[in-house]
Amino acid sequence: YQDVPFGQCGAAERLRVSVAMAMAANPDLRVIRVTDASLLDDNNRAIIDEMAKEHDFQIWLEIVGAEEGVGVVIEDGMVKEFLGVHDVHKNWVETQVFKGGLTALPTLCATAAITSKILEQGVEGCLVECGVFKGSHPAVMQYICRFMGKRRLVYLFDSFEGIPKAGPNDCEGIAPLVGRVDGDQIEPSGVSICSLNEVSGYMRKWGADPTMLRFVKGWFHQTLPTTDIGPIALLRLDADLYESTKTCMTYLYPRVVDGGYVIVDDWRLDGVKKAVCDALGGEPQNYHEIPDGVGDSGQRPIFWKVKR
Ligand SMILES: C[S@@+](CC[C@H](N)C(=O)[O-])C[C@H]1O[C@@H](n2cnc3c(N)ncnc32)[C@H](O)[C@@H]1O
Repeated sequence: YQDVPFGQCGAAERLRVSVAMAMAANPDLRVIRVTDASLLDDNNRAIIDEMAKEHDFQIWLEIVGAEEGVGVVIEDGMVKEFLGVHDVHKNWVETQVFKGGLTALPTLCATAAITSKILEQGVEGCLVECGVFKGSHPAVMQYICRFMGKRRLVYLFDSFEGIPKAGPNDCEGIAPLVGRVDGDQIEPSGVSICSLNEVSGYMRKWGADPTMLRFVKGWFHQTLPTTDIGPIALLRLDADLYESTKTCMTYLYPRVVDGGYVIVDDWRLDGVKKAVCDALGGEPQNYHEIPDGVGDSGQRPIFWKVKR
């Protein structure tokens, strides 16, 4: 390597070259574990970090040390506990998915954290987003499943034709953007359109397992009553409008299991808030705001844990 016999290169140099060879020889792999990463100095660690980002790999460096931080506690050959693992997720979410979507980074990280919690706690059911646009949140849900070695179906409900026009219960916060409908028929507004083909492309790009994805194309009032998806562990609503949100709450909320979670992205929009409250007969109990770094309190996405 670089005119030096490979066996005579420094240990860190050999490790770096080996990682590059492992990536090139196994393009379908997404994770490489390096057992003696303590040999790497900061410079080589930074180079490997760059290689991982460029080739969309995760590199798990096994470093012997007493420092606290990201880590996996392994006992009797089983993963017992993840420490600070959200930093790992944050890095993946930020470098892979964040760039293309509509959502703030902390909101994507909240989806990662809640999905991890569901999987850790063994809450039964599938993972659902209604209103996916490019599919950032379903991609994060599926990434966490892969990361934790769990098989859960991820449902993507969307028209894949954009948001409809606003109705009488929608506020001025959204109506100027999408226009208002005259009668009670759905009319596409032309806003936030991402076709099913494009979303499938994003999911491939972000490494989602296609066998665990279920795309359900159509207007919610047509698809939700006829799609049998079984129990739901995570229901994420991000459809901007009263009617869209109310339909999701009517058909899907009853399927969310005890201990499952609901996330409402557009809590700041009066129409969405009204739809949730109309469906529940009041505000959800014990909801938490997701500090998204954008809105003030009351203007942020929320989530709550469902108690049956
Ligand atoms: C704001 S975008 C979703 C953003 C996405 N969750 C993200 O984080 O990037 C709203 C989505 O809801 C979908 N949508 C809204 N109302 C709908 C309805 N009634 N039926 C089907 N899709 C709907 C739109 O097609 C659009 O993709």
